[in-house]
Amino acid sequence: MRPDGYHELESIFHGVGLADEIEVAATSSGKVEVEMVLEEGLGGRLPEASENLVSEAAAVLLEHGATNPGVAIKVLKRIPIAAGLGGGSGNAAGVLVALNELWGVGLDKRALLDAGAQVGSDVPYCFGGGTALAMRRGEALTPLPAPLTMWFVLGVSFEPLLTKEIYGVWDTIGRSDDAGSAPMALALGAGDAGEVASLLHNDLERAAFRARPELEGKKLALLEAGALGAAVTGSGPTLYAVAESEQHAHSIADRVRGLFDRVLIVSSHPRCVELLD
Ligand code: C5P
Repeated sequence: MRPDGYHELESIFHGVGLADEIEVAATSSGKVEVEMVLEEGLGGRLPEASENLVSEAAAVLLEHGATNPGVAIKVLKRIPIAAGLGGGSGNAAGVLVALNELWGVGLDKRALLDAGAQVGSDVPYCFGGGTALAMRRGEALTPLPAPLTMWFVLGVSFEPLLTKEIYGVWDTIGRSDDAGSAPMALALGAGDAGEVASLLHNDLERAAFRARPELEGKKLALLEAGALGAAVTGSGPTLYAVAESEQHAHSIADRVRGLFDRVLIVSSHPRCVELLD
């Protein structure tokens, strides 16, 4: 662990086409009002105001000299919450981009990335998205070529895992083996889904299995259902499986549906924050 409580990462982020929708409207309330709603069928607990990265993003912009006549932010959550899928980080990046414009703060790209890193380690990645090597806390990014659109099955559990706690468990287990990111970067660049699947590795997986033992059996079930490879995403509890094609993803999903609170089929997506109108 670093003196600031964070851990040094070497990780590859890969964006998929699963997104929340954020509406940002100017008001004259003088306040930042945040409303979050869960998409139908999505379980889990919405974040408290004090831990909501949307409010945090607005607060960081105010620290950077913004003035707020009033704003109402509405988030429709489709990305499972506290699931290791980066949904909160993506929301924060979207709100930083929107409020930077609405409030005329004028932060340039570099300053926005810094503001994002203040909100959370994964927020800087979310301005761009796509495939990137993340180092240091997760904020030092190098884009990686990944030309193939890959298909994934996400096995979602609505019972959340807290990133901080999973890092805490990892501290007690210690390092597993040294999996460098270079072979994975090459496999992604070559567009070889089979090779990508054979190289999946997540150091936090063992910690997530320690915290939630049933996840290990669910990973095996994804492999038995025909996945090319499977792993915990982020700090869990979501498991993802790599499929050969969209059809193959459906066949895997059909076999494991009963094991998860929700099973989603997603494919690679080159961007994270996108302006809708
Ligand atoms: O940066 P963020 O607030 O998203 O991180 C949540 C928690 O995850 C941190 O408080 C820290 O405990 C842990 N973390 C870490 N090392 C990282 C990123 C996150 O220990 N590189």
